[in-house]
Amino acid sequence: MAKLNFCLSIFVFCISLFNIQTKCFDERPWLYKHHAALFIFGDSLFDAGNNNYINATIGKANFWPYGETFFHHPTGRFCDGRLVPDFIAEYAKLPFIPPYLQPGNKLFIYGVNFASGGAGALVETGKGSVIDLQTQLGYFKNVSRVLREELGDAKAEALLSRAVYLFSVGTNDYAFPFETNSSVLYTYSVEQYVGQVIGNITQVIKEIYEVGGRKFGFPNLGPIECAPFSRTMVPAGENKCFEPFTPYVELHNIEISKLFQELQSDLKGVKYSILDFRAVGQDLINYPSKYGFKEGKVACCGSGPYRGILSCGGRRGVREFYLCDNVSDYVFFDSGHPTERTNEILAHLAWSGGPNVTGPCNLAALFEF
Ligand SMILES: *[C@@H]1O[C@H](CO)[C@@H](O)[C@H](O)[C@H]1NC(C)=O
Ligand SMILES: *[C@@H]1O[C@H](CO)[C@@H](O)[C@H](O)[C@H]1NC(C)=O
Ligand SMILES: *[C@@H]1O[C@H](CO)[C@@H](O)[C@H](O)[C@H]1NC(C)=O
Ligand SMILES: *[C@@H]1O[C@H](CO)[C@@H](O)[C@H](O)[C@H]1NC(C)=O
Ligand SMILES: *[C@@H]1O[C@H](CO)[C@@H](O)[C@H](O)[C@H]1NC(C)=O
Ligand SMILES: *[C@@H]1O[C@H](CO)[C@@H](O)[C@H](O)[C@H]1NC(C)=O
Repeated sequence: MAKLNFCLSIFVFCISLFNIQTKCFDERPWLYKHHAALFIFGDSLFDAGNNNYINATIGKANFWPYGETFFHHPTGRFCDGRLVPDFIAEYAKLPFIPPYLQPGNKLFIYGVNFASGGAGALVETGKGSVIDLQTQLGYFKNVSRVLREELGDAKAEALLSRAVYLFSVGTNDYAFPFETNSSVLYTYSVEQYVGQVIGNITQVIKEIYEVGGRKFGFPNLGPIECAPFSRTMVPAGENKCFEPFTPYVELHNIEISKLFQELQSDLKGVKYSILDFRAVGQDLINYPSKYGFKEGKVACCGSGPYRGILSCGGRRGVREFYLCDNVSDYVFFDSGHPTERTNEILAHLAWSGGPNVTGPCNLAALFEF
């Protein structure tokens, strides 16, 4: 592993040298021709460390035991190791895609990660301690400008249209109101509230399209009502998922599929891949042993029933927490986030899964186009 990391850093180092002499781009067209870039948006499932650089009061994971498995140090990822986009980058033969806010990150030809733990599609979600989706879009537009300056319009356009835009967004828009008993649950119907979330996602997709993006990767929403944090909202003693979530998530997922069917017929050149994260996640939670896990309901790290309290690391107000012996046995690392092993399974299915888990194509096909 260390060897691989070393090779990777040498590789990235050489690429940065080429970047200084922009002339080299002309001499090495393979750099952008044969590697579709990867731009990443959304929440903690995909945040590779952006929140390290903002005033994210609780939305940070830059302390032990986060990162212990693969990186052997905390990176800001809400996981013991790698996230889904880290595996996707590997399968697409790209280096790790760095967080946009990481100081000195000026190499954008492989893409960049804008995701921020706690973010949703709505500006109200996590307001004040996340990079909201609108701001992520703003960062992306600035990156597209930098690429145009560095590569020229034609090459920048080729890069942007070949790139894949990967999203994890929506969970927090539904989870936070329940966690805080927010009035939006009472002032809007399920249809109205989901309509706002989908409306804001639609707007962001359309603006990325305007800038030149064509290929979108969207896991739908997972079984968030069965994550450890959700089970703590169920009256004690009932071994159940938190069902009030379900109508929101199910409608959201129906609307996401419809949205992309519409976008594909309305906007020339749009291609997309949806991973049925919901079905796969339910399978993982209900039949963990099918995938080599021992535990699908209780998190590896945290406190309280199901370790559903987000206290992993003891740095978010609650100091006491439990850490499991063998993280490989668990589907969930903390109260709301999968372990690296789970992420690898999800990424593998998103990349090469068949029509029962991805549609209308998988990510491997999307990268090929
Ligand atoms: C960060 O957030 C805390 C808590 O909300 C606040 O007291 C502090 O002023 C914020 N700092 C900055 C630099 O915004
Ligand atoms: C984009 O760049 C412009 C000009 O450099 C800057 O004013 C603006 O704040 C940037 N937007 C974001 C979201 O970073
Ligand atoms: C949540 O808020 C509603 C209305 O604001 C209130 O009727 C209800 O009792 C609250 N529920 C809990 C669990 O606090
Ligand atoms: C986006 O969300 C806001 C609430 O944050 C809502 O008022 C607005 O109508 C939504 N936009 C669309 C296009 O649905
Ligand atoms: C998808 O199909 C494969 C084999 O074709 C099967 O092993 C797998 O369980 C299915 N996945 C789901 C989530 O139904
Ligand atoms: C951890 O769990 C995995 C999967 O159950 C198993 O293959 C491995 O041997 C375990 N490691 C230790 C140190 O017990």
